[in-house]
Amino acid sequence: MKAKNANKTCWNCPAAIFKGHVDFRACGQSIEPKFVDGEQSIMIECERRPDLGLYEPSITLEQCTEWQLTEYGYMLKNMRIMILGIDGYLGWTLALKLGSLGCKISGIDNFFRRNCVDEKDSHSVIPINNIHERIKAAKEILGIEIKFKEIDILDRKELRNFLDEVKPEAIVHYAECPSAPYSMVDCDHAIKVQTNNVIGTLGLLFLMKEIVPETSLIKLGTLGEYGSPLTGRALFEGIFPGEAVLNWNNTEWSLGGELTPRDPVSFYHVSKVQDTFNIYEACKYWWLRSYDVMQGVIYGVHTEQVAADEKLRTRLDIDEWFGTVVNRFVAQAVMGFPLTIYGKGEQIRGFIALEDAMECMTRLIISPPEPGQYDVVNQVSGLYKIRELAETVAKVGKEKFGIDVKIQRVENPRVEAEKHPFNVVSQKLPNTFGFKPKVSLEKEITRMFQLLTQEPIRKKIEEKAHLILPETWWSGDKKQVETLEVYKPGTKELKGYEPKLITEERNE
Ligand SMILES: NC(=O)c1ccc[n+]([C@@H]2O[C@H](COP(=O)([O-])OP(=O)(O)OC[C@H]3O[C@@H](n4cnc5c(N)ncnc54)[C@H](O)[C@@H]3O)[C@@H](O)[C@H]2O)c1
Repeated sequence: MKAKNANKTCWNCPAAIFKGHVDFRACGQSIEPKFVDGEQSIMIECERRPDLGLYEPSITLEQCTEWQLTEYGYMLKNMRIMILGIDGYLGWTLALKLGSLGCKISGIDNFFRRNCVDEKDSHSVIPINNIHERIKAAKEILGIEIKFKEIDILDRKELRNFLDEVKPEAIVHYAECPSAPYSMVDCDHAIKVQTNNVIGTLGLLFLMKEIVPETSLIKLGTLGEYGSPLTGRALFEGIFPGEAVLNWNNTEWSLGGELTPRDPVSFYHVSKVQDTFNIYEACKYWWLRSYDVMQGVIYGVHTEQVAADEKLRTRLDIDEWFGTVVNRFVAQAVMGFPLTIYGKGEQIRGFIALEDAMECMTRLIISPPEPGQYDVVNQVSGLYKIRELAETVAKVGKEKFGIDVKIQRVENPRVEAEKHPFNVVSQKLPNTFGFKPKVSLEKEITRMFQLLTQEPIRKKIEEKAHLILPETWWSGDKKQVETLEVYKPGTKELKGYEPKLITEERNE
């Protein structure tokens, strides 16, 4: 079968440099474009193939000698990819995956994550070396070269120099604080998260406009930007589809093409919503191009590359600030700590295994958007109730590892609906980019048990057991949550709404 991106053209290629005064507008009321002298079409020069001279941007990726066919589709040879936040859970994993595909990897990090985890007096329960040791191991074990600079994304002078030096052809932006509870600790933490995330991204957009306007930005948002509408309205992929209609007071308007409503659930999530608008505007004003990834919660420890050697593993946190739910549940089970569900546990969220998430990112990176294109993908492979996750972790633990663990409901320190419908549209990754999930929830949980039950890791989990129960309340209180109920897995019926993940392009 033909690769999904085979028919894309120079329009999508970061090596295509537009020539002459091409005045694009994306406000819906475009002015007449002005063309290169005498030419009646938009002309480009190829940064990679200067021998082609000035030409119309019509060569397909399939025809171009700079693009090669891979299992993910056509990919720019030795594509220069800069990962912002390369020392993090996802950044490190992606660097190794893309490096193993032959991409030229560069990255920055200022160790924001390591410092916040220190602030909690916690640690990654999977031991990780400092970035320099990690980079050395990547070279020795996988033959991957990584060009790294310790830079704070807020330091625009340093970031400008590095962008100018590398001239990346895609930028993956992970360099944000990823924690909702951390942003709810107090005023200082909320300001720190919003400054880091919002101002960091805004500054980056200005630098991209100046230095690498042809480069695509693959930016991590979160599914939590949308909230969980109590009406059950589907969570579309960021932008209403063409058929969507608003009917009010006997009048109908099309909503097609407009950004969908956002209903963030913490000051962290608000920072992501603000990013969404800033990126959307930058694409509109300056013809930048971006995929904004509404990311479900990622769980797991496995990709081929991070599993290749213990020196290559990625971090895993379990404390109340940085431990995400599935990762934390498996760690809790490993030490026999009841799996803590906040409130009713019927909250539904979107999830995806680490390996699948990395595959989605690879597919997005190699198929860049067109100039001015702001697009959103919902990156998720399964929707689960929190109680259901606890049951699955307990079941895998018992059946495959002989571990008996209880489930414990505690007070919910968050302000969130504990019972709600949840219908998520995720059509673009499977249909436009050819993504098919490979890793089931049970499979990744099994891999996690295999790793986390290893003695040195189990010990590191036990050392931080006291940091698991939440103390950070959305109300601003700082107190341990009370237990509401403790029960044996498999003894309670799962109630509430059935979520729906809509992946088919037409769902009649
Ligand atoms: N892990 C998930 O389940 C998940 C889900 C939804 C969205 N996301 C988003 O994905 C991105 C990466 O998440 P992660 O889980 O890998 O988090 P992470 O904290 O492990 O990674 C982020 C990295 O960025 C770095 N960083 C933060 N601020 C920086 C700055 N100012 N300058 C330079 N580096 C900086 C951190 O030190 C860290 O290494 C985040 O934007 C997060 O919000 C993650």
